[in-house]
Amino acid sequence: MKRRIILAGGSGFLGRLLAAHFLKENWEVVVLTRQPKPRTAGVREVAWDGETVGAWAAELDGATALINLAGRSVDCRYTAANRRLIMDSRVNPTRALGAAVARCVRPPRVWLNSSTATIYRHTFGPAWDESGEIGATREAQDEFSIEVATAWEREFNEAATPRTRMVLLRSAMVLGRGANSVFPVLRRLVRFGLGGRMGSGRQFVSWIHAEDFCRAIEFLIAHDELSGPVNLAAPNPLPNAEMMRVMRGVCGVPFGLPAAEWMLEAGAFFLRTETELIIKSRRVVPGKMSAEGFEFRFSHFRAAADDLSAKLAE
Ligand SMILES: NC(=O)c1ccc[n+]([C@@H]2O[C@H](COP(=O)([O-])OP(=O)(O)OC[C@H]3O[C@@H](n4cnc5c(N)ncnc54)[C@H](OP(=O)(O)O)[C@@H]3O)[C@@H](O)[C@H]2O)c1
Repeated sequence: MKRRIILAGGSGFLGRLLAAHFLKENWEVVVLTRQPKPRTAGVREVAWDGETVGAWAAELDGATALINLAGRSVDCRYTAANRRLIMDSRVNPTRALGAAVARCVRPPRVWLNSSTATIYRHTFGPAWDESGEIGATREAQDEFSIEVATAWEREFNEAATPRTRMVLLRSAMVLGRGANSVFPVLRRLVRFGLGGRMGSGRQFVSWIHAEDFCRAIEFLIAHDELSGPVNLAAPNPLPNAEMMRVMRGVCGVPFGLPAAEWMLEAGAFFLRTETELIIKSRRVVPGKMSAEGFEFRFSHFRAAADDLSAKLAE
């Protein structure tokens, strides 16, 4: 019998990546979504509301793995209404899944819940592994994302699901070629001559190639000894100025206009997003994955950028 994987909130960027990956590995893939439609051949979409336990819960019984990816995009202005949506769309689905798993006769063997590498404190110091400091800094400009991440993790940790192994995915920015990925946006900026450093350029960027993200999820499902928070980030985060220099090299564009912080603030306002997404220094490394022997195919940004750029040009 095929192993079954449930992707809650799996209609988005990461869900599609994982669905394609696990279909290729011959898994049965079920997506929980608020709007089921035929999106990917071979994937079964099942309706849920992300809030209450319903008929969808039967899908969890006997499943090998449950991955929760539900959450409204953080790429927006943090108005009061958007803040509520960002918070509720993460905490409520986690609570509903916990209640559903608790009622299963044969609960999923493992539940991986999204969190974020942004949970760690802004730092120019040594990189954070899973024992890194959690909290807000930068004059508390990043307080909201920390609040969301900690509420999300708290809800997960409070689930009464003792027969299921629990893993928190503290993922860095996933670089892929899909429409929702940051990489094609970066590439476009560089090609328009806007590929200089952003702000001081000193802030660290943590990232993971989409292929390694999928391989890491498969590794986590297979390794029973791994549980609790796990950083999903390539082992070599790099300063923003360096990342932009590499991008210019990959795109063959010798010069890129830098963007000062006030320009980013103005740009973010018009793009209806928040500068925290760019300015916060995220220096996160994969402590547990590396200790467990996971090997990244793309451990340096240059290799990842070359690969994705070539794929986008195909
Ligand atoms: N992409 C990254 O680089 C990255 C990095 C770190 C962490 N993460 C986290 O990983 C998760 C998945 O990321 P992604 O890039 O795949 O996001 P995405 O493309 O925005 O997809 C998220 C999915 O969440 C569902 N959703 C939105 N609001 C919801 C609500 N109120 N209730 C229930 N479901 C809701 C949507 O599914 P339906 O509309 O079909 O229901 C949507 O397809 C997110 O929580 C994100 O914060 C992502």
